[in-house]
Amino acid sequence: MTELVIITDDGPVRTVRMNRSDKKNALTLPMYDAMAIAIESAPKNPALRCLLIAGAPTAFCAGNDIGDFLKMAGGEGALGAPILRFLYAVARCELPLVAAVQGNAVGVGATMLMHCDHVVASIDARFSTPFVGLGLLPEAASSLIAPRLMGQARAFSLLVMGRTLSADDAKSAGLVNTLVSPDAVEAKAMKAALEIAALPPQGVLAARRLMRGSPDEIVTRIDEEAELFKTRLRSAEARAAFEAFVARKR
Ligand code: COA
Repeated sequence: MTELVIITDDGPVRTVRMNRSDKKNALTLPMYDAMAIAIESAPKNPALRCLLIAGAPTAFCAGNDIGDFLKMAGGEGALGAPILRFLYAVARCELPLVAAVQGNAVGVGATMLMHCDHVVASIDARFSTPFVGLGLLPEAASSLIAPRLMGQARAFSLLVMGRTLSADDAKSAGLVNTLVSPDAVEAKAMKAALEIAALPPQGVLAARRLMRGSPDEIVTRIDEEAELFKTRLRSAEARAAFEAFVARKR
């Protein structure tokens, strides 16, 4: 069976690659778990200085698997434990996070970038968070981070109105650092990761900690969002939206 998340340690950089390209890297619960473990365990390896999150040439990540959402909606409506584990892992991650984005970054595929320190994207990448249109709510503390990052108006258009950001929009919104041609994304992201890794490590960690502040505020918001998400997941609106997505392919 193909590994749905591939972890590669290459010198000081650990690459966490989503590898479900036939489904545009929609994340399943085992994928969240594998990514969380890779992120949580990285600081325990003193050789590692930086994490690189990558997807496939055709898709960075299409967000949560909608079939899984449908199952969760039919159960207690709680977010699966692996989802929260992954969100806590990125929020509490001590090592710098770099991302290489090609194709679409949707839902959690976009909000995980708000936890990254350096994002390289292709000039044709697209970013969207259609939560509210799906009957849901923003997650991953994006309701806190996005307005700070890009201002209320742009965050509202992204998180609530579900408007897609082009690569240029994402760069001017502060979500992306560098735009390059699709075939240069991975190399450019690795170069940035190696550049960070070559800096004095304790200085990087301390500066990053100061800049980010305590992760507790972020984790508290993740929990608040998750609590509200539970009610929304069980809503008739959400169920109808999930069923419509699943049915469109039959
Ligand atoms: N959950 C489950 N399956 C998904 C998925 C998701 N979030 N996103 C894509 N897929 C699947 C499609 O069902 C399709 O499967 P199939 O080949 O078995 O029919 C396959 O991935 C390819 O998707 P497709 O829509 O044909 O690719 P595209 O290039 O035309 O569009 C996206 C890519 C990402 C724009 C589109 O798939 C999409 O909008 N996905 C849903 C994103 C979303 O709403 N996520 C939840 C956010 S909270």
